[in-house]
Amino acid sequence: MKKKLFGLLTVLLVFVLAACGGSSDSTSAGEEGTASDEIQELTIKFAHVVSENTPKHQGGLAMKEYIEEHSGGKIKVEIYPNSSLFGDQDEYQNLVANNIQFIAPDVTKFVGHNPQFNVPALPFLFDNDEAAIAFWDGEKGKEILNSLESDGVIGLYMWPNGGKHITNNERPLVTPEDFNGLKFRTQGGQVLEELYTTLGAGSESIPFSELYTALDQGVVDGQENTFSNIESKKFDEVQDYMSVMNHTRVDYAIFTNTTFWNSMNDATKEIVQAGVEEGTRVAREESQKLNAAAYEIIKERGETEIIELTPEQIEVFRQVLEPIYEEFESAIGADIIEAARAANEEYGNATE
Ligand code: LMR
Repeated sequence: MKKKLFGLLTVLLVFVLAACGGSSDSTSAGEEGTASDEIQELTIKFAHVVSENTPKHQGGLAMKEYIEEHSGGKIKVEIYPNSSLFGDQDEYQNLVANNIQFIAPDVTKFVGHNPQFNVPALPFLFDNDEAAIAFWDGEKGKEILNSLESDGVIGLYMWPNGGKHITNNERPLVTPEDFNGLKFRTQGGQVLEELYTTLGAGSESIPFSELYTALDQGVVDGQENTFSNIESKKFDEVQDYMSVMNHTRVDYAIFTNTTFWNSMNDATKEIVQAGVEEGTRVAREESQKLNAAAYEIIKERGETEIIELTPEQIEVFRQVLEPIYEEFESAIGADIIEAARAANEEYGNATE
């Protein structure tokens, strides 16, 4: 009797799994990829926190277009910008739960999972996107991106945004002393916190979706971000000064859920993988262009006084912040810092 019941349950389970395989709801995907060479019908969700006219959203659109076109419409990609589905506080849990299949956060928001994600916050480490890309595409960068596998999360590729600059509402920031007593919003992480402490300032991590209001209401005096994020979220409207520093970076990684990834058969995965690669290509191509255009718009709007620091003024900051490297060497890893520095030597401004 027991045997019969077990047999019946097995047949039922096989039937249910087969039905799930053809489901149009990818969020229930959990089974290993089937051997079928039919493209699966899926709806893939990608959530992020920034505006549409940003490198991240443009990368997402390219990914969507590629996947939908190459799957003949069988795979749909829904993109939710501006924290409209999930934001900084809840996108990771929802990726882990497979409620969304892709996120592309600023990796410094993940330092709680692995302190090595602090790399883009190390002061003046990378001169440009090329150097940062070379690091994240290299062996050590990949090691960090793959470090969340125990949560069922895979980091596929780094998407750049670019160098960050500091805005504030109190005074022009030209020397380290100018930071004294001010409070800055950061994306999060021990290195950014230490950076402001070293400059005699305070800091607080605030979700991106709450930043405009926090600046407007004076919860913090300032923040650091790329031209693209400052322009598209109009932070210059509520900040009187912007120091062009390029001292830290916004580097994203496109993360996916392992259960979802393994649930795709070869024909489906091939298209999704190629779509992610196309998104990566476009995000990397757009980051410098969109940031340069955003800088021009900020200048034209004239809402904020722009302070372009000289190489000598930058050098003062570099020296004051240098001890941060030693302080975080054991948490981040001497090998990681060395690989990042080697990438900058090869691709940074010194070689141009
Ligand atoms: C921020 O929170 O300031 C940025 O990292 C947001 C983003 O995704 O670019």
